[in-house]
Amino acid sequence: MPRLAINLHKIAAVTNVVIPLLAALFIFFGVRNSKWYHIGSVVFGGLFLVNVYLMNFQVKYAVLRNFGIIGQLRYMLESIGPEFRQYLYLSDNEERPFNRTEREEVYSKSKNEDSTSSFGSQNEFNEHEIKIRHSMFPSSGYGGYKVVFGEERGISNIYAINKPAMISAMSFGALGESAVRALARGAKKAGIPINTGEGGYPKYHLMEGPNIIFQMGTAKFGVRNEDGSLNEYKLRKLSENPQIKMIEIKFSQGAKPGKGGLLPKEKITGEISSLRRVPMGRDVVSPSHHIECKDAKTTVEFIKRVQDVSQLPVGMKLCLGDESEFTDLVKEMKLQNVFPDYVALDGSQGGTGAAPKSFMDDVGVPLFPALRSVQNILVKGGVRDKMKIVASGKLINPGKQIIALALGADVVYTARGFMLALGCIQALQCNKNTCPVGITTQNPGLQKGLDIEEKAERVKNYAVNLEKEFKEILSATGSKSYKDLNEKKLYIPEIEALAMCE
Ligand SMILES: Cc1cc2nc3c(=O)[nH]c(=O)nc-3n(C[C@H](O)[C@H](O)[C@H](O)COP(=O)(O)O)c2cc1C
Repeated sequence: MPRLAINLHKIAAVTNVVIPLLAALFIFFGVRNSKWYHIGSVVFGGLFLVNVYLMNFQVKYAVLRNFGIIGQLRYMLESIGPEFRQYLYLSDNEERPFNRTEREEVYSKSKNEDSTSSFGSQNEFNEHEIKIRHSMFPSSGYGGYKVVFGEERGISNIYAINKPAMISAMSFGALGESAVRALARGAKKAGIPINTGEGGYPKYHLMEGPNIIFQMGTAKFGVRNEDGSLNEYKLRKLSENPQIKMIEIKFSQGAKPGKGGLLPKEKITGEISSLRRVPMGRDVVSPSHHIECKDAKTTVEFIKRVQDVSQLPVGMKLCLGDESEFTDLVKEMKLQNVFPDYVALDGSQGGTGAAPKSFMDDVGVPLFPALRSVQNILVKGGVRDKMKIVASGKLINPGKQIIALALGADVVYTARGFMLALGCIQALQCNKNTCPVGITTQNPGLQKGLDIEEKAERVKNYAVNLEKEFKEILSATGSKSYKDLNEKKLYIPEIEALAMCE
C-alpha cells in the first residue's frame, strides 16, 4: 500500500499550474458563454497575479518565493499553531508558564467552584520537588495573619495587612482601563492592597477606592522631573492621598532584571502618553536604573529620601543578581542606619507585559534560591527584624505561597494569579495589544468583553479562597501562625532543587 504523505513541493507545483489554467478557462467561458464566468476570471486572475508577485518580485520570504500562494499555508498554520496546541494536543501539565491544571485551580477559586481534583496529582514527584512537611498533630485554631509595614521604624503611617497575598505591580498601560478597574475594585472587596506598577498617576486605581502601593519605576512616571530625577513635590502630594499606603521603588523585576520597563508603541494611547508624559508612536523604554542610584551608598540615601518625602512605608523591589552586591547594600544600610520597610523579591520566573526573550529566559536568580540567599544575608547581617520580605514569582496557589513563607517571606505578591482570576487565557499576547479577553490591551473593542463588576467579584473570590486554603495547609503543618513557618517545615530534596521548583 503506498504511503499517504503531504508533499508541499507537488501541491505547490500543481496549484501554480492550475491557477493560471482556471483563470484562462474562466476568461474563455466568460467571453463565449456568460459574463458571470468573469467572477472566476477575477478570482483566479487575481490569485495568479499575487502568485507572480510572491514568486518573482518579493524577496523577504524564501518559502513564498519557492512555493507561491501555497507557502502561505505554512505561515497561516504557524500563526494558529499555539491555539491548536493549547486546545488539542498539549496535555494538562505541559503548557508554560502555567499549565492547564494550574490555571484551572485559579479559575475555580475565582468562580467559587469546587477546586478539588481526583485520582492523583499531575506533578512529577521527582527529586527536584520541594514539599511541605505536615504534622501528625495539625493545629486547631488560626492565629490570624497580620503584617505591619513600617512598624520597625515606628512611623505614624504604618500599614497593616491581614491576608497573605497582595496584587503585584501591573501598570495601566500594560493593562487596559477595564482590567485595572476590575483588579482595583476586587482588591477593595477583598481587603487587599493593589500595586500600581510603574504607569504613573494611578487614576483608575484611585477611582475604585482600594488601598494602593504606588510603584516608582526607574522612569518615575507620575513623580518625575524632565531629567528623570525625583520630583519631591509630586511624590509628597501623591503620598498625602489617604488611599496611597506605601511607596515601592522598583530597582528591577524578575522577567527583565538589569533592563528598564518596556511599553510597546501599540499600547500607547493619548491618555497613557499624557499620564506618563511620553510621546506616542514610539516604544517607551525606561532607564535600566534610577538616575540617583549609582552604588550602594547613593541607593540607601535615595531610599531614605523617599521615606522622608512620602512619610510612608517604603519598599524596594528587585530580582536577585550578584549576591555580593546585596550583601554590600545591607552593610551600607547598617552604616547609614537606614532600612527599606520591605524588600519585594521577584524571582526570575516572574511575568511581564513585554521583555526581551533572552532576559526572561536567562537573566536573574529564580525565586526560591534567591529567597534563601536574601533571608540568610539579612539574618547574618543581624537586620532581618528591620524589614519585611515580600516574595513573587509564580506563587499563584496556596502551597507555593506557604513554601515561600517557610523560606523567609512575610507575605506574597502575585500578578498573573490575579490576571488568571480576571479570565486570562494565557494567549501570550500581552505585548501586542491584541489580548483576546481584553486584559492587556488598550483596544476598547477588546476591553468590552471584560465586565468590570463580574471580574472584580472573581478577584475577590480568588483572594478569599487562597486564604481559606492557606489556613488549611498552615494547620496541616501544625502551625497556627505564618510566623511558625521555617525551612524545617519543608522537605527539600537538595538545595539545587530550589532552582528547579518554580
Ligand atoms: C502584564 C504584567 C505587567 C507587569 N508590570 C509590572 C510593572 O509595572 N512593574 C513591576 O515591577 N512588575 C511588573 N510586572 C511583574 C509582576 O509585578 C510580578 O513581579 C511578576 O509577574 C511575578 O509575579 P507572578 O509570577 O505572580 O506573575 C508585570 C507583570 C505582568 C504579567
